[in-house]
Amino acid sequence: MSSTGSRFHTSFAWGFLAIITVLVGLYAKVAFVNTESHKSLGQHNAEHFDNVASSAYEVEWVRKLAKQITAFLQENTEWLGVPAESGDCELKLLDYACGNGIYSKVLAPYVTKLRGIDISGRMIEEYNATAQSVGLSPEQMRGVQGDLLDDESAAKLQDPEFFGFDIVIMSMALHHVEDTGKMIRKFAERLAPGGTVLIIDWVTPSESGCRSMPLHGREKIPMRHTIAHMGFTKQEMLDMLSHAGLVDGEVKWLNERSEMPEDFGGPQQLFFARAKKPSA
Ligand SMILES: C[S@@+](CC[C@H](N)C(=O)[O-])C[C@H]1O[C@@H](n2cnc3c(N)ncnc32)[C@H](O)[C@@H]1O
Repeated sequence: MSSTGSRFHTSFAWGFLAIITVLVGLYAKVAFVNTESHKSLGQHNAEHFDNVASSAYEVEWVRKLAKQITAFLQENTEWLGVPAESGDCELKLLDYACGNGIYSKVLAPYVTKLRGIDISGRMIEEYNATAQSVGLSPEQMRGVQGDLLDDESAAKLQDPEFFGFDIVIMSMALHHVEDTGKMIRKFAERLAPGGTVLIIDWVTPSESGCRSMPLHGREKIPMRHTIAHMGFTKQEMLDMLSHAGLVDGEVKWLNERSEMPEDFGGPQQLFFARAKKPSA
């Protein structure tokens, strides 16, 4: 073969190899993006909160928020379902999407049994470590990994110890859930007659007048992929509670705003929404 012919074959081979390399690269990129985007909101939440479980509660604004929520809970125990005179009665609390159990710990002096459920296994480890640190036995306070919106996971939570709660609380987690109405109906199913559900979350910026958290665009916040709702209006909360068959719905705003980093939209307004399951 002439040297011109062999040069032609060599450059053809290199060109072909380059095209194949680009195509394989493109395919890998598309496949990766698809795997990421096919994750459910629950999977994104489990991964994110597994990653931050040991550090989340050390962040300054999270600490300040926890102080505000703690003070409200301690000043409003009757409103959130703790009877004024409980005597020796057993009182059972479910802390759903419990994180490290910070609010189970706050409410532990008022109830006899606490159960935590969270989609993040690492958060549940933190929850059970909190129980141990305050000297509560697993019978008194224990958490399990789970997601009541996932049928397979909910099927594993059929033991009677996960039903008949006098109080169900969900703090700062409803905005991480897509089907919020279904979530509240799941709580209603697990309440004892006369029991109370308490939801703590952000007031939607259109109602509070606070700046919206940047979930889209170039300035979007890092954990946007774990968030489904930028807060809730009072009417949305009352409707969801009553559609779940609950009565005496009431929504209170905290009397001050909560500091949030500018990246998250700056100060935001907390609400506390509660309703009761009718007595049998
Ligand atoms: C912002 S943290 C709040 C934790 C805790 N309730 C608090 O107020 O400190 C949100 C929590 O919701 C949990 N979570 C998100 N989606 C969930 C779901 N579908 N079921 C159970 N837990 C969920 C996360 O793993 C995380 O621990």
